[in-house]
Amino acid sequence: MYDSNPTLDGIKTIDESRQGSVFYREHQQHGKTPGLKHFYIESYGCQMNFSDSEIVASILGEVGFAPTRNMEESDLILINTCSIREKAEETVRKRLKTFEQVKSVNPGLKVGVLGCMAERLKKQWLEDEKLVDLVVGPDAYRDLPNLIGAAEEGNRMVNVLLSREETYADINPVRLETNGVTAFISIMRGCDNMCSFCVVPFTRGRERSRDPFSVVAEARDLFSRGYREVTLLGQNVDSYKWDNPETGEHTDFADLLEMTALVHPDLRVRFSTSHPKDMTDKVLHTMARYENICEYIHLPVQSGNSRILDLMNRTYDREWYMERIDSIRRILPEAAVSSDIITGFCSETEEEHQDTLSIMEYANFSMSYMFAYSERPGTLAARKYADDIPEDVKKRRLNEVIRLQTAMAHRNNQQDIGKTFRVLVERDSSRSSADHCGRNSQNKMCVFPKKDGINPGDYVMVRIHDATSATLLGEIV
Ligand code: SAH
Ligand code: SF4
Ligand code: F3S
Repeated sequence: MYDSNPTLDGIKTIDESRQGSVFYREHQQHGKTPGLKHFYIESYGCQMNFSDSEIVASILGEVGFAPTRNMEESDLILINTCSIREKAEETVRKRLKTFEQVKSVNPGLKVGVLGCMAERLKKQWLEDEKLVDLVVGPDAYRDLPNLIGAAEEGNRMVNVLLSREETYADINPVRLETNGVTAFISIMRGCDNMCSFCVVPFTRGRERSRDPFSVVAEARDLFSRGYREVTLLGQNVDSYKWDNPETGEHTDFADLLEMTALVHPDLRVRFSTSHPKDMTDKVLHTMARYENICEYIHLPVQSGNSRILDLMNRTYDREWYMERIDSIRRILPEAAVSSDIITGFCSETEEEHQDTLSIMEYANFSMSYMFAYSERPGTLAARKYADDIPEDVKKRRLNEVIRLQTAMAHRNNQQDIGKTFRVLVERDSSRSSADHCGRNSQNKMCVFPKKDGINPGDYVMVRIHDATSATLLGEIV
């Protein structure tokens, strides 16, 4: 699931709690509908990509394609790709080889690449290796019906144009891999930040925000269909901004959060990802005002050292980040904070790495996504700085970060023993169908024995009697 985390013997870095943040892969599961054409889709990367796959499913539904879980039965295989680290790209490459084999026994089958690898690898895959029939970038999904039509006539098709306006606001996503309880809503696309290590501004283009009324309408529709939690998604939700062209009225992220919270007190609202440079006290006060806005903030620090943060072009320093943590603790004393961390960025010294460990302790992260630096072609860092930390040093630092995070999470979770939390029941626990699982406001996954009359979508009070570094175990009271 975590494409660059090594597995440490005896230490489990993840359990059922992965859903809160913005990356990681999963396979889609659907049944086949007789009489229709079928597409099979796999998504990699962040939740925004998963959310995009649901937009793609909607666009394809309009032209008579239904989803299937079985690629052998499909007329079209799509892979929604991620470029964030080299490993993510390698995974996709392997999958394309598998699809090639499926195609060899079903020559009518078309294969398309979507998402963040489209721009960079279109030539190689379409022209040089002739591995795929379609390459479609994240802003060109409305063109899919045309491109598929042309591909069906034997052409190799590409559209990787990025847009300054496209938000797919009017498209009602088809929920693909759904528990019927929690859903993601994209509120913006692209990113204007230019962190020096990151490909996202190149793969997804300029930042643009979606009309807030369409976001609220989507949340309302989900609630009426039984969903009880929405997560508002963006690469930097704090820079959400929208000016009403008719009234001139300005909506910022705190306003949008409030508008969504007002849909219904039983609809929980989460969001991801917050950027330390932009996260305002106004957002924190809005969270404090509404019971149904979850007390959980994913606030990636990346590094705890100011010189490295400067090289990363994160535009905040160690002190600024610590001050943001202080504000969270002051305004939302019960909130959990999680992070993303990169080890072994260009020229990082041992002392600078120690600063990352110490800021992790300071912030007391409930969870972190942790990565060894992976140089990405075309980024600022690739052009300006040498990728000069040896792989084994990056990995050793990463292991230290993982070990500390696991210990902190274990300690934090032990402190929850004896507490009672309001939990939204999501589904069966992956370990036992006798148990349900669901998260508390702090985004911690709780596992507890099922009780008659309690179903996914219900809120229950769960008293915690045991904990691992990844999960709280309890029972309904
Ligand atoms: N918009 C989010 C992050 C999106 S990418 C933010 O700004 O926080 C998700 C995470 O992948 C990043 O937070 C970073 O920790 C990691 N990441 C991005 N580029 C990377 C690279 N080149 N090498 C290693 N990790 C990287
Ligand atoms: Fe990448 Fe930085 Fe934008 Fe996040 S904020 S997507 S790390 S450029
Ligand atoms: Fe997401 Fe990967 Fe693209 S993290 S934005 S799918 S590069």
